[in-house]
Amino acid sequence: MIFDSHAHYDDRQFDKDRDELLTSMHKNGVDFILNSGESMRASKAGIELGQKYDFIYSAVGIHPNNTGKMTDNTLADIKELAKNKKVVAIGEIGLDYHYDNTDKTKQRLWFTKQLELAKELDMPVIIHSRDAAQECFDIIKKSEVKKGVIHCYSGSPEMALDYVKLGYYIGIGGVLTYSNARRTVETAESVPLERILLETDCPYLAPVPNRGKRNDSSMISFVAEKLSQIKGVPLDIIYETTSQNARNLFGIE
Ligand code: NI
Repeated sequence: MIFDSHAHYDDRQFDKDRDELLTSMHKNGVDFILNSGESMRASKAGIELGQKYDFIYSAVGIHPNNTGKMTDNTLADIKELAKNKKVVAIGEIGLDYHYDNTDKTKQRLWFTKQLELAKELDMPVIIHSRDAAQECFDIIKKSEVKKGVIHCYSGSPEMALDYVKLGYYIGIGGVLTYSNARRTVETAESVPLERILLETDCPYLAPVPNRGKRNDSSMISFVAEKLSQIKGVPLDIIYETTSQNARNLFGIE
């Protein structure tokens, strides 16, 4: 059983062969996919995919880099979309200070408000944190939202364990296979398998040996194999445990 806990199948890189690819997923051993929202458009597209494919669930939310024009109406629309029964999380939300194209004050405001929405709806969150590790942690801690995943985790192993203490899961993807990913490897060593989710973030971040190519959920096997080596745990246990983790978090039977 394979659960890809973070994908973007609404991305235009999949326009040519989306249906062909998704109908072949079961054959590739992929049983569940969570499509992550990043804008209103992507959130709606994720819901449509969930209506078409029984194994696709989605998250709705506004990515930090898209909060520049966000308003209270956007938040109300997200709340409305979250009522769909295939929507299982609010996300991806967070802070991204890597590029200076979105006002930091706005990022913090809408991150906080989307966390409050998740709390109100009692839903888990999918967190995007880039170059803002401590601030992101502090906002989450203060929000008292106690369930979610730190997607494509890139912080320190120590902070990963602090997130686990708060009740969070750590999302690990293609970066684990990169030769310069020492910190991600250390994180994978430190965090108990019961707290790790596998993800692709496709079409981005394809694992070695496909680094630089378009990623898809079938390539999660390269991440799982690397995690199996790091943990010294058989591959089938890696798949079973991480899938069960994702199902527990997102409430999927
Ligand atoms: Ni993403």
